[in-house]
Amino acid sequence: MRTHYCTEVNESTIGQKVTVAGWVNSRRDHGGIIFIDLRDKGGLVQLVADPAILTEAETVRDEYVLICTGTVRARGEGLENPNLKTGKIEIVLEELVIENKSKPMPFDINDEKVNDEIKLRNRFLELRSTKSYNIFKLRSTAAIQARNTLDELGFLDVETPILTKSTPEGARDYLVPSRVHPGEFYALPQSPQLFKQLLMVSGFDKYFQIAKCFRDEDLRADRQPEFTQIDVEMSFCDQEDVITVAEKLIYDVFTKCGKDVPSTFKRMTYNDAMENYGTDKPDMRFDLPLVDVIDIFANSTNEIFAGIAKDTKANRIKALRVPKGDTLFSKRQMKGFEEYVRKFGAKGLGYFQMKEDGLKGPLTKFFSEEDLENIIKTTKLEVGDVVFFGAGDKKTVWDYMGRFRLYLASMIAGMVDADAYEFLWVVDFPMFETIDGRTKALHHPFTMPRNPEDLDSDDLESIESIAYDIVVNGTELGGGSIRIHKEEIQSKVFKVMGISEEEANDKFGFLLDALKYGAPSHGGFALGLDRMIMLLTGSDSIRDVIAFPKTQKAQCLLAKAPSPVDNEQLKELGLRLRKQD
Ligand code: AMO
Repeated sequence: MRTHYCTEVNESTIGQKVTVAGWVNSRRDHGGIIFIDLRDKGGLVQLVADPAILTEAETVRDEYVLICTGTVRARGEGLENPNLKTGKIEIVLEELVIENKSKPMPFDINDEKVNDEIKLRNRFLELRSTKSYNIFKLRSTAAIQARNTLDELGFLDVETPILTKSTPEGARDYLVPSRVHPGEFYALPQSPQLFKQLLMVSGFDKYFQIAKCFRDEDLRADRQPEFTQIDVEMSFCDQEDVITVAEKLIYDVFTKCGKDVPSTFKRMTYNDAMENYGTDKPDMRFDLPLVDVIDIFANSTNEIFAGIAKDTKANRIKALRVPKGDTLFSKRQMKGFEEYVRKFGAKGLGYFQMKEDGLKGPLTKFFSEEDLENIIKTTKLEVGDVVFFGAGDKKTVWDYMGRFRLYLASMIAGMVDADAYEFLWVVDFPMFETIDGRTKALHHPFTMPRNPEDLDSDDLESIESIAYDIVVNGTELGGGSIRIHKEEIQSKVFKVMGISEEEANDKFGFLLDALKYGAPSHGGFALGLDRMIMLLTGSDSIRDVIAFPKTQKAQCLLAKAPSPVDNEQLKELGLRLRKQD
């Protein structure tokens, strides 16, 4: 129907007759002449209608759907709009067809401050904004580039099942009841992990999939219950081979989307990341490292610090120097900092101020002159700086000091370059972590230990795995590992994790069995596509980059899911609802 999209009409089309189609973005009646801003996926163009000739123009309202024909002309002197791509021209209408009317809009689609609930209930209207369209245009470009790069590298696009058995990635499963097998359930995949490994046993050699994954977990700004991974697996490879593929993939996608990124990324061990930044996903756009001062605090006359400093294996005392912090923060802010870290388990937050005549602050009385000098040297203090201290068991200190580092950076103007991309591989992850006395795989239980014989050791937390994460600006973009391809090692890992042989066979028997039939060495990774698009578009919420996202409470407000089903359907599935307590 149309000859041009709205933004294709420009100075080079002046004098031409064109037909455009779209939605009324706004309408202004200037007594005798009506101006309409018509919007399509690309943007706006101004239409001019004389209601004496085109009576329909009088009845046009916001968001009506129009198909209009007219002649392009230059706007008059001083009437140009430099903010619009089509700001130098307008279309003088000869024909105006109202293809459809619109109810008054529940919100202004160009207003970003509208309440989330209203927007999500009417997501199809929110998506009408040019900003939204551009996000999905970029998402499409990124996904197509990912496919092209992986295709070029010889990877095969294979779909794996959605109705399947649990694949543990650390979250709860979404379950689907079976009608044909009453009392039995499918699980939606948390990732295609096990199936991609099976494809390696099949000899497919290189697999990829842009895969939907489902995880029932607490939602955050960068987590949705249903999300998408660019999932990759390859055979006969080591960590370097996998990292080379991931770097090329990320480089190609970011470059295609107009971003300037390096072709290889820096690396840091998990241990260094935790010790220096308190997290396994450090934001490297700024420095502010944590510095170990436990040995100096061991000499302190403060019993609490000295006590903590006695156990250097279990505990940490970390210093965080803020250059010029003494002049940056008010007394109230300093008090607020302590309240902030207390939320994450800190018992308090000590600090020193570096003045012209040395260190000042309530804690100085517990240290000798020599130790104060030592603190200045170790943390590289200069006049005007503040240095904060966190002391306690290592996991708690890493956690709250790592968070505090981010919090401080966000409060210091100019500290974080919002346009920068700092990529970092975090490598050499531990195989296991102990949570509430239970041994859990840090990545997943299919990850190869660096030395499988370490599985006999008593110190499970010290076992290293061949696992790696790719971190961008403090966000985990993706992760992967070299996998266990020998059945006896896989069985041993399950045993170490306290999974009985019976349970292992019940849950993962098909994998254990496959590993007995000539499984090649293999490894891979998965990148979060949604998180990648967040980074590429500078979006703060993952919801902005998913066409029909769920709320914080995992609901789709648009379709109203989840929702009750009728008794007949439950009966068919062999289910009866228990009364809620
Ligand atoms: P992992 O669990 O680290 O690894 O997931 C890989 C990447 O997927 C993204 N991601 C999410 N994105 C949005 N919402 C979520 N709820 C969510 N959960 C994860 C993240 C994450 O880095 N099978 C392994 C990969 C492998 O070993 O090959 C896996 O799923 O960006």
